Amino acid sequence: MHFLITAGPTREPLDPVRYLTNRSSGKMGYALAEAARDAGHEVTLISGPVFLPAPSGIVLVKVETAREMFEAVQKHIASADVAIFAAAVADYRPVVKAEQKIKKSAETLTLELERTEDILGSARGLFGFKGCLVGFAAETEKLVEHAQDKLVRKGCDLIIANDVSQPGIGFDSAENAITLCLPGGQTQTLPQQSKTALASELIQFITRLVSSS
Ligand code: PMT
Repeated sequence: MHFLITAGPTREPLDPVRYLTNRSSGKMGYALAEAARDAGHEVTLISGPVFLPAPSGIVLVKVETAREMFEAVQKHIASADVAIFAAAVADYRPVVKAEQKIKKSAETLTLELERTEDILGSARGLFGFKGCLVGFAAETEKLVEHAQDKLVRKGCDLIIANDVSQPGIGFDSAENAITLCLPGGQTQTLPQQSKTALASELIQFITRLVSSS
């Protein structure tokens, strides 16, 4: 099968030297890409800026902003059987990117932000994706409730929910603990372990999901 996987943060520029971003390291998405490759699948990895080596045997598409990630996914998703959105895409970007470095002047500075493209939310409608659609949900409260809501709203086959309020898991950690949320309200918890071990379990789970559908 062909897996399309997104990973890492996006950077939304404010001026030539500053940007808005988040704590995603790309570790979860890269581990998934490597696990899918090791299971014999073709993989396209669309990655925001990370400090990880490019994995071998994988088509790597590097992007910086949410808009670039949206365009890369739009370009590559048609040939995918499975799409996994592990990237932490910025939900907002500055309305204006200053041409020159913003100078220090007033005591306070107000930034105006606008919504970025909803990549996961575009998969079924705008991109017409018919394959297995897997999203992540990074939540600090009501983990399963918010993940189930996302599953339905975005037309996903599976949402992988992370509690990102817990120390030692989630953003920028070597380990994670997740709850799999399926249509109909079914859930399954995978306890804390390395992102590499979790990724390999997840690829097996998703492969079984596709073959049973
Ligand atoms: O990179 P790591 O350091 O390993 O950390 C990544 C992680 C462990 C936290 C990862 O597993 C994770 O949860 N990634 C998604 C984080 C996130 O942005 O969640 P969200 O609840 O804000 O977004 C929900 C889903 O919509 C995600 O699949 C996201 O890729 C997608 N999304 C979000 C915003 C947007 N504009 N477009 C999107 O497609």
